[in-house]
Amino acid sequence: MKILVVGGGGREHALVWKLAQSPRVDKIYAAPGNAGTASLAENVAIDAEAVEQLAAFAAANAIDLTVVGPEAPLVLGIVDRFRERGLRVFGPSGQAAQLEGSKYFSKAAMDRFGVPTAAYGEFTDAASAKAYIRAQGAPIVVKADGLAAGKGVTVARDVEEALAAVDAIMGERIFGDAGARLVVEECLEGEEASFLAFCDGKTFLPMVSSQDHKPAFDGDQGPNTGGMGAYSPAPVVTPELFEEACETVIRPMVEGMAREGMPYVGILYAGLMIKDGNIKVLEFNCRFGDPECQPIVMRMQGDLVPVLEACIDGNLEDVTLQWDPRATVCVVQASEGYPGRYPKGVEIRGLEDAAAREGVVVFHAGTQVQDGKVVTSGGRVLGVTAIGEGVGQAIERAYQAVELVGWPGAHYRKDIGKKALERR
Ligand code: AMP
Ligand code: GLY
Repeated sequence: MKILVVGGGGREHALVWKLAQSPRVDKIYAAPGNAGTASLAENVAIDAEAVEQLAAFAAANAIDLTVVGPEAPLVLGIVDRFRERGLRVFGPSGQAAQLEGSKYFSKAAMDRFGVPTAAYGEFTDAASAKAYIRAQGAPIVVKADGLAAGKGVTVARDVEEALAAVDAIMGERIFGDAGARLVVEECLEGEEASFLAFCDGKTFLPMVSSQDHKPAFDGDQGPNTGGMGAYSPAPVVTPELFEEACETVIRPMVEGMAREGMPYVGILYAGLMIKDGNIKVLEFNCRFGDPECQPIVMRMQGDLVPVLEACIDGNLEDVTLQWDPRATVCVVQASEGYPGRYPKGVEIRGLEDAAAREGVVVFHAGTQVQDGKVVTSGGRVLGVTAIGEGVGQAIERAYQAVELVGWPGAHYRKDIGKKALERR
């Protein structure tokens, strides 16, 4: 069969890598892809958000299955457009993707379905948002309602910072229309974990747990990024909490969405905050996490294609997944200056040496081929991912490989996986 993977990040390279191992797959296209996907798939120069162009490409090239990586095309309704043309596509409808596309939609759904989350207020004018913030006090969290490329959340330590966030989001509209509405939320404490499940509209199949590292620098310091590294499993998600996440978070969401005529098909990603054995949901995403996808798919055994098809066809209850019991760790190497401004076009050296290490896969994110060389082309550039008997060995293998690959100015965190080590 022919598969189209939409997107060009580390997540999409990991998906292409996994799908390429399927005996059912003859050809993969990646749109737009990166230098990593180019070695396993044919890159197509169509932007991930050019939904109509992607649908036309899939129709013209008789694509059997399209897998959508990023949230933006999902929220734009790529799945609806493909379905209208009779094309098979994995992901939620535009309406169901509102669980990520609108923080307010998501909070209101959690309220209706009884899913534990932070107390909040929802505002469409700055004055009321500010009055609520003054009344609640700090710390407090201000969120742009719409998609803001992972930058729409301010965890404010004092009231001034929260008020400034309201001005920036709603007044200056730094995220455009995504800031027409605000969610102001109770600040939760604890340890975060990512909990992802395949969903077919009626039922779900959980994946192994994982944990992201959002802040740019060691010790969770500095500005938030898209994610500087991830590992799986996340020991903070004990077997009891795993069960609780299934029953108190994923199940009520899937059943509630179905009841209300918005069946959720695709991956439901719950960002959890865990404290004293209690779970609260920080947010939902409507897709694989990036970088969580890299360590997760490296542990996934067997063929991914039948799982995606079962989600689309509504027979996920017949599917089981086996997972490698070992641990995986992904260390992201980013451009100098990321998540702020950064240079592009810097040559990357040592890719082959790193990839040759035992148990290591180097997933590409912001890379491209220029004059026969692999160069940087984005903020997050590589996700060096390793598997090990325990998280300690996975960390060791990943960092040994990281030492072998890079470019002048490459930046990475030195403490990916440390929280898991401390919990053992
Ligand atoms: P989100 O875009 O909703 O994933 O938020 C990004 C990050 O902001 C999360 O991963 C948390 O680190 C932080 N965050 C979001 N909501 C809260 C909250 N209510 N309390 C504390 N931190 C939060
Ligand atoms: N790594 C966090 C996300 O994909 O949203």
